This record gives sequence, C-alpha cells and structure tokens, in this order.
Amino acid sequence: MKTVRKDLLSIKDLESKEIEEIFTLTASIKKNPGKFRGILKGKSLALIFEKPSNRTYVSFNVGMAELGGHAVYLGPDQIKLGVRETIHDVAKTLSRYVDGIVLRTFAHKNVLDMAEYSDVPVINGLSDLSHPCQALADIFTVREKFGKKKNLTLAYIGDGNNVCNSLLYTCSKTGINMNVGVPEGYEPNNDVFRGAEEMARKNKISIRLYHTAEEAVRGANIVYTDVWASMGQEDEAQKRKAIFRDFQINGPLFRLASSGALVMHCLPAHRGEEITDEVIDSKNSVVFDEAENRLHVEKAVLVKLLS
Ligand code: CP
Ligand code: NVA
Repeated sequence: MKTVRKDLLSIKDLESKEIEEIFTLTASIKKNPGKFRGILKGKSLALIFEKPSNRTYVSFNVGMAELGGHAVYLGPDQIKLGVRETIHDVAKTLSRYVDGIVLRTFAHKNVLDMAEYSDVPVINGLSDLSHPCQALADIFTVREKFGKKKNLTLAYIGDGNNVCNSLLYTCSKTGINMNVGVPEGYEPNNDVFRGAEEMARKNKISIRLYHTAEEAVRGANIVYTDVWASMGQEDEAQKRKAIFRDFQINGPLFRLASSGALVMHCLPAHRGEEITDEVIDSKNSVVFDEAENRLHVEKAVLVKLLS
C-alpha cells in the first residue's frame, strides 16, 4: 500500500498537521502565484472523468498550467474504466506517461484500486463516497473568513453525501464543530461519521446528527448545503425533491443561524431546490470564494505530490 503522502484519496488519511501544511502552502501560492510558476515544468497530469465537471476539471487544468505543467483530459468515452481495460492496466499504462492522475468516478473502490496499481500519485477528484479537494478548499475558505476562531460550528443540511463525508473528516481534524441535518435514511456514511466523532472527541469538539434542518442550523456560523440528488442519482431526483423539501436553505431557515454566518455550497447548485436565490446570492454567501479556492488548494496539493 502507498503512503498517504503519495496520494490524496480521502481526508481520513491526512493527519491534522498535514492539512495545516496544505493550508499554509495554499495561502502562500494564493498570495504569490508567480513564485510557484514553473515549479512543475515538464510534468503531466491525467484527468480521468467518468462524470461531468466544471470546477474540478478547470481548476486542475489551469492549476497545472500555472505551475508550468500540463493536463491531459480523459472523458467518459475514452478510458471506460474496467470496460475497455482493467483499472490495473489503465494505472500501469498511465504511470509510464504522466506524473499524476486525478480520478472522478462512481465507486470509491475505483479510486483505491487506481492508487494501488499506479506508480504515480492519485488524487480523488470526487467519488460517491468522498470529495476531499472540495472539503480542503471549503475549510481553507472558512479559515480565510474566520481565522482560527474557536468554537465555530458548520451546519451541513441536506443529503449525507460525498461532500458531507469529506467535511466531517475535515471539520473534525481542524477543530470545527459540525451539525449534520438530514432526513432519516439519508445520513452520512456510518464509518465516516463514527470516525469523525472519534476525532472530534480527541479534539474536544462536537459532531452532531439531527433529523430537522432547524435544530442543525440554530446558532451555526457556517451553513452549508449541496444538491439533493448527486451525479448518478438523477433517476431519484423527483422522489428526493419531496423527501428533502424541509431541508431547503431559505431566508427563514438561514435566519436561525448566528448573525454574520457564512453560506456555503460546493456547486453546482440547483437553485430553488436545496437553496434559494435569496440565500445563495446574499452578502453572506462565499460560494465563489470556495470555487476559487479549489484552484489554490489543488495547486498546493499538486506541488506537494508531484514536485
Ligand atoms: N464542486 C465541484 O466539484 O464542482 P464540479 O462538479 O463542477 O467539478
Ligand atoms: N454531491 C455532488 C457534488 C458535486 C460537486 C455530486 O456528487 O454530484
């Protein structure tokens, strides 16, 4: 098995100290991008995407270019993981061409298998289980807005999905309390939740699960949501609209949060479903700062793993 320092597969694998190192490097890259220009000169990154993307694809592509390297996009019709050839053979072949692989896929096992067989670093660009690059950019954004202020609480409302799972690990490891408000049956992954609870106990913070949005949002400093039906769950979208109706971030719900609370969303947003225009376009919203920080955080990850 490879060490966590070679790949970025899940926040679970990162120690708090390593997250802090990524944040420190991110801040310096964001402040002075010119200093890092050319640091990955001649390096190549494969971007294997089995699902659509705006932020992940563009930020890794532009990030590589800004660091002096370049990215090669492999969309759903090209590689056909496990169909045209095995993940083993894809990993072994790409390892002869490129210096790193970003994989956006369905089953998280595909990410683990790719890392197992690859001789170059593998970065999880989103799986059904987790979205580590997103959570790093999100908590970096929280740090920019609040510094290391003690006793912050992030309320995650909606579906206990990949983004929620990665936020659970990242909040618990960076000392941020997290309230999860989800309908019954849509809780985050049980192992992730238990792992985050254990980490939270060590860090003397709290991770709480609620089945109403109001309980989770009350007094929170950050209110976060994501789509109710993730990529690959399109068939359930109609059914989920009814189930999640009471978990919409709208004006009255948001007003239960602490004054000056941040509004966060990983995007893409389904406006009028999980979040209203009033909230996502409000002065409290930092959704495009999060999107921008994907670029800076991923450049830091690339520098750490590829240089
Ligand atoms: N937030 C995020 O990962 O966006 P994309 O799906 O557009 O990459
Ligand atoms: N939960 C969403 C996140 C998109 C960035 C999905 O997996 O589709």
